[in-house]
Amino acid sequence: MREMMQNMREAALKAILESEDVDSLESLRVRYLGKKGELTGILRQMGKLSAEERPRMGQLANQLRAELETALEQRRAALKEALLEARLREEALDVTLPGTPAVLGHKHPMYNVLDQIKSIFLSMGFEIVDGPEVELAEYNFTKLNIEESHPSRDWTDTFYFTPDSRVLLRTQTSPMQIHAMETKPLPIRMIAPGRVYRKDEVDATHSPMFHQIEGMVIDKGVTMSDLKATLNLVVEKIYGKGTVTRFRPHHFPFTEPSCELDIQCHKCGGRGCPTCKGEGWIEVLGAGMVHPKVLAGCGIDPDVYSGWAFGMGLERLAMGEYKITDLRLIFENDVRFLEQF
Ligand code: PHE
Repeated sequence: MREMMQNMREAALKAILESEDVDSLESLRVRYLGKKGELTGILRQMGKLSAEERPRMGQLANQLRAELETALEQRRAALKEALLEARLREEALDVTLPGTPAVLGHKHPMYNVLDQIKSIFLSMGFEIVDGPEVELAEYNFTKLNIEESHPSRDWTDTFYFTPDSRVLLRTQTSPMQIHAMETKPLPIRMIAPGRVYRKDEVDATHSPMFHQIEGMVIDKGVTMSDLKATLNLVVEKIYGKGTVTRFRPHHFPFTEPSCELDIQCHKCGGRGCPTCKGEGWIEVLGAGMVHPKVLAGCGIDPDVYSGWAFGMGLERLAMGEYKITDLRLIFENDVRFLEQF
């Protein structure tokens, strides 16, 4: 029996050392140490032994079992480690390889200008509001004191959705004045940038869709001098200190008095050049004191409150700032053009 165990020991240790994976290790364990394995087979013959030999053989068998178990365990650990090392080698990253550079986009030049204007007004305590592009004629025209016969209400000028001319694409951001007055607590200081729509043919200076920024202040004791001071400050921040402005009388149905703000051409200093079309001045925005009828229509007492408003075209501003000569370039989204800014 001793010899049988000795033979089994040698064969088993050799097989364990030569095994190449965990599965074959397991079958070796079953083969040698399992319930129906070789060691059990040998022990079955214990009955043939004498009484004093039996415990010695038992002890030897236990030693052999322990030795084989240890060998199996060590081989299993070694195989696992080799496997891990192989995997690490296979999955290794070469961190010295140059990466694939990500292509970064950037902001559209017109939105750079818009961001600049937003931050100027934010710094003066204005809030930025957003509103619908699909509007009611009531808000786009009627509540702004624009009479039924006004040419801008014509179907040749405005995109309507309904045959009764009730729903339309807003032609200006001024309906945001009404929305603000109807919903916000007083006082109000807001700007409202957004898209507006008019039935214009596309050319170098016209597009059926363009952007405006509306601005409005409503408070007690607000006067035209507040309007002038604020807008002069904004112009200086956009066009630089010392930019000369001119407030020219104008007419808008929803402001009284009304004006347009021109800046002296920053290109030629007012002498006249292609940028200002020889005029020396560049029109920047329309503005005025909010009409008492408009205030009253929004439930604000014009004897207690007053306010001013302005509306400014964003494309024209961006064209001036970036010396863009054709409006279409702003909307075509040709990267070769956009990448220049
Ligand atoms: N909504 C006017 C326009 O589109 C501009 C404007 C706004 C004028 C606010 C006065 C006050 O021309």
